[in-house]
Amino acid sequence: MTQSAVDLTTPLTAPSIRPLIARLPDLSGDATVRESAVVTHHGAGPDAAWWRQAVIYQIYPRSWADSDGDGIGDLPGITARLDHLSRLGVDAIWLSPFYTSPQADAGYDVADYRDVDPLFGTLGDADALIARARELDLRVIVDLVPNHSSDEHAWFQAALAAAPGSAERDLYMFREGAGDAGELPPNNWQSVFGGPAWTRITEGDGQAGQWYLHLFDPKQPDFNWEHPAVRAEFESVLRFWLDRGVDGFRVDVAHGLIKADGLPDAQERTTMLGDTVSDGAAVSDDVDVDDVDDVDDAGDADDHRVDTPYWDQDGVHEVYRAWRRVLDGYGAPDRILCAEAWVEPQSRAVLYVRPDEMHQAFNFDFLQTPWRAPDLTSVIKSSLRAADSVGAPSTWVLSNHDVVRHTTRLGYAPGYRVPNGISADDAQPDEALGLHRARAATALMLALPGSAYLYQGEELGLPDSTDLPHHVRQDPTFGRTDGQEIGRDGCRVPLPWVGGAPSLGFGPAEATWLPQPASYDHYAVDRQEGATGSTLELYRSLLAARRDLSLGTGSLSFVEGYGNDVVTFVNDAEGRDRLLVVANLGETTVMLPPGCEVIVASGPLAEAGVPTDTTVWARWL
Ligand code: BGC
Repeated sequence: MTQSAVDLTTPLTAPSIRPLIARLPDLSGDATVRESAVVTHHGAGPDAAWWRQAVIYQIYPRSWADSDGDGIGDLPGITARLDHLSRLGVDAIWLSPFYTSPQADAGYDVADYRDVDPLFGTLGDADALIARARELDLRVIVDLVPNHSSDEHAWFQAALAAAPGSAERDLYMFREGAGDAGELPPNNWQSVFGGPAWTRITEGDGQAGQWYLHLFDPKQPDFNWEHPAVRAEFESVLRFWLDRGVDGFRVDVAHGLIKADGLPDAQERTTMLGDTVSDGAAVSDDVDVDDVDDVDDAGDADDHRVDTPYWDQDGVHEVYRAWRRVLDGYGAPDRILCAEAWVEPQSRAVLYVRPDEMHQAFNFDFLQTPWRAPDLTSVIKSSLRAADSVGAPSTWVLSNHDVVRHTTRLGYAPGYRVPNGISADDAQPDEALGLHRARAATALMLALPGSAYLYQGEELGLPDSTDLPHHVRQDPTFGRTDGQEIGRDGCRVPLPWVGGAPSLGFGPAEATWLPQPASYDHYAVDRQEGATGSTLELYRSLLAARRDLSLGTGSLSFVEGYGNDVVTFVNDAEGRDRLLVVANLGETTVMLPPGCEVIVASGPLAEAGVPTDTTVWARWL
């Protein structure tokens, strides 16, 4: 099926994309619309730490920009284009792993935590990148992968060469097999990428021997986090990068690390997203909303830890308290830890951001919320309530390198889920609809108090590539599930910088490590630069207004009177005008109350108000 083309110049043109004040004509307003007396969240104050309000942009180094012509992005490529991000108006970057790695999981299989893979450059290139970011006033967060290493890490190689029961084996999770001759895996745990989470090795004498645990690919053996040497090693790795000048770490699989005593069998299939099935239907079909999970109803926390005895065990918190002490030792400005923890319910997830642990944890509940106003209102309220209960900011996110981009997700009917990627054989999203909604979703997110993460390319409105040929796929998920799960390659395709150029300006080579779809040409940065109504200019406007109004530290109260299809709130802070945010998800255009001045709109405004799938920011005097 073909996707509908997106015209960046006409249908999605917003009348006001810079924070110029545009008055909507003839808005009589609705007398019943009023700000609720209940404040959902109290703001953090003007001198709040930088990370409480920061907008942080994720760079996936393989796919940002290639400097040496091998078709794979690298650190010098990133450095050369960093000014794109200062123009965009973000506060910080997070770099996915660039460390020495055989790339079995695109760098999330680290063989040396203190060096750069030649694919991406050298340590000197990392230093140059950090220095350039400093010049541009961008903070730098790097990825830390503590749950597992690569099987090519020196420690794992030593463990393989050593005998069962040796000190070397004790750094990883080696166990004897079950069955009469140890021929069965030690327990029933499955890998996130499919297949058993255990692999049996051949011992030095040529006999089949012990098994080792890998919650992900067999090339990603899990560390034994009960071992003090593992803990000491990671504290040393933190210091290594802090001493090089980084501002923090995004902590991969932060809910892993500690496994339940005795490694009991799991009761659930292993996933990262808590999202086991792709239910729902194509955009034109009916979706039974009752089939879709209620984000507030995440089940019993204790069941979850028993059902998956390798996720969210209480022991992880001791590790992060120790790391926090290391970071705090570096003084001001704060160096930060951000948890990638797919943990439910929210009351468990916020334990990672208690005052003596991490600073941020991705709000994956928000990311997974269907495009329905009551669901969004509910997740915003519950997220702020949960984060406030421990004094942390909420950390909003809509896209990253592990999920289908929100532009593409929103091109399906609300509630339709695509947790395992999209192939050409699947129902295709409506690309124009998805972009229209994605712009509204981002405008909603960036008006919320707290921190927000953006994923590279979303500022261009980039969709997933949904028709990659299977032979180019590199996500281990695809191979390990025999193609049952398509995997994450679709959101990882190299960025288009220059329309019409070879590899769309990604680098000197014609070909890129994943092929760019033809449609990426009209999303290229240079085609959107300065173009009225382009997604790039919309993001710039949103980020500029967010900064001007300090939205990240404001208070939030909801507005009543708009009915069920509209998310409406006020972001307020002392010393500035109140910002009214109206996200209309319904079919009927809604009007703004009297006395509003529109600052930014995610799409064209109707004469009489805010049309379907559009978010407006307005001063409410
Ligand atoms: C990363 C994935 C990676 C996995 C294993 C995730 O949290 O974001 O890209 O495959 O961890 O390291």
